[in-house]
Amino acid sequence: MKTVMVTGGAGFIGSNFIHYLLRVEPDVQVINLDALTYAGSLENLVDVSSNPRYTFVQGDICDAVFVDDLLRQYQVDTVVHFAAESHVDRSILGPRQFVETNVMGTFTLLDAVRKYWIQEKGLPLDDVRFHHVSTDEVFGSLSAGEAAWTEESSYAPNSPYAASKASSDHLVRSYGHTFGLPYTLTNCSNNYGPFQFPEKLIPLIILNAIEGKPLPVYGDGQQIRDWLHVEDHCEAIHLVLKKGKTGSTYNIGGENQPANLTIVETICDILDEVLTDAQNKPHKNLINFVTDRPGHDRRYDMDIHKINTELGWKPRRTLAQGLLDTVNWYLSHPDWVAVIRQKQEYKGWMDANYKSR
Ligand code: NAD
Ligand code: TYD
Repeated sequence: MKTVMVTGGAGFIGSNFIHYLLRVEPDVQVINLDALTYAGSLENLVDVSSNPRYTFVQGDICDAVFVDDLLRQYQVDTVVHFAAESHVDRSILGPRQFVETNVMGTFTLLDAVRKYWIQEKGLPLDDVRFHHVSTDEVFGSLSAGEAAWTEESSYAPNSPYAASKASSDHLVRSYGHTFGLPYTLTNCSNNYGPFQFPEKLIPLIILNAIEGKPLPVYGDGQQIRDWLHVEDHCEAIHLVLKKGKTGSTYNIGGENQPANLTIVETICDILDEVLTDAQNKPHKNLINFVTDRPGHDRRYDMDIHKINTELGWKPRRTLAQGLLDTVNWYLSHPDWVAVIRQKQEYKGWMDANYKSR
């Protein structure tokens, strides 16, 4: 691992991963390829922007000629692929972009590395790696009491987002099986932490509550996610890159099962405590039950036995500590919040998704 191309490195998890990688791998060069869609922001990377081991390149993973050139220009030996459309609600209102980015974009990257690494350079396959970052949502939805998903569970994606990620996972697997591409693949549960765009549940609730705005809870709020702090996810991906078996997939998760309403109430309790002079106490009074998401998955739960026994990974942070740290991060980064919230795409999305709920 000498030159790592991180796709989607200006997004939430990608930017956290770049910070992590530059910190733990002192000799690695990082190329961040990102289209800077609404979800990507160079504000997430200001403190690494002058690092000589970091290069930002704006571009689209669907642009085959551009991707081909980039791999050669920087002699990339490792791709860590985060770039995607990532928000389920947006995939309900506008699915096309999800197919284009998540399916065609992943295909374009796979075909580019196949040509460059395997056909053209004939590199020793021990020296290269394509790591695909995916989600637990490919497995569908669990009912109460059903066993957690393992790496052997069947795919049953329910939303256009999940279906597009499932398709990309299948393409990755097929490039390994057919062309011998050395890949690893991780399916991770819901992440939270610094730099998350405030359209996702946790940052949305934190920022709305601080401003005294309604806290939208879909349906009965009893849907369950398996929450993981983003820093723990980054550590897991790095470990899979270093020690994971090529051609393998690994489940990653936080080993917790809170209902959405519990998450929202916990954030309210934290804010009641840390914002001693807040006007809106108790923040729980802001909770507003709104029309449910169509096709809303009820429960996710990841079995992390494989990554734990093979690679020794487990989450470091408890959900309670991670949520407290995250609330404090948003409170202590008002400039970042202001820049993101000024974006027209943010304001437009809040109207499109919530006005008629
Ligand atoms: P994000 O939406 O915050 O960031 C996505 C990034 O990809 C943005 O910087 C965006 O500009 C970039 N991008 C989008 N289309 C592009 C294109 N065509 N070319 C180049 N760049 C493009 O997403 P995230 O939450 O950081 O998720 C990253 C990855 O992790 C995704 O693949 C997602 O499916 C997966 N994942 C996310 C979670 C989660 O909870 N957020 C959980 C499991 C897996
Ligand atoms: P989200 O952060 O969008 O992640 P995902 O859909 O990928 O799990 O949503 C997390 C959960 O929170 C999900 O069950 C939907 C719910 N939710 C709300 O109740 N209200 C909201 O405003 C949002 C954005 C999500």
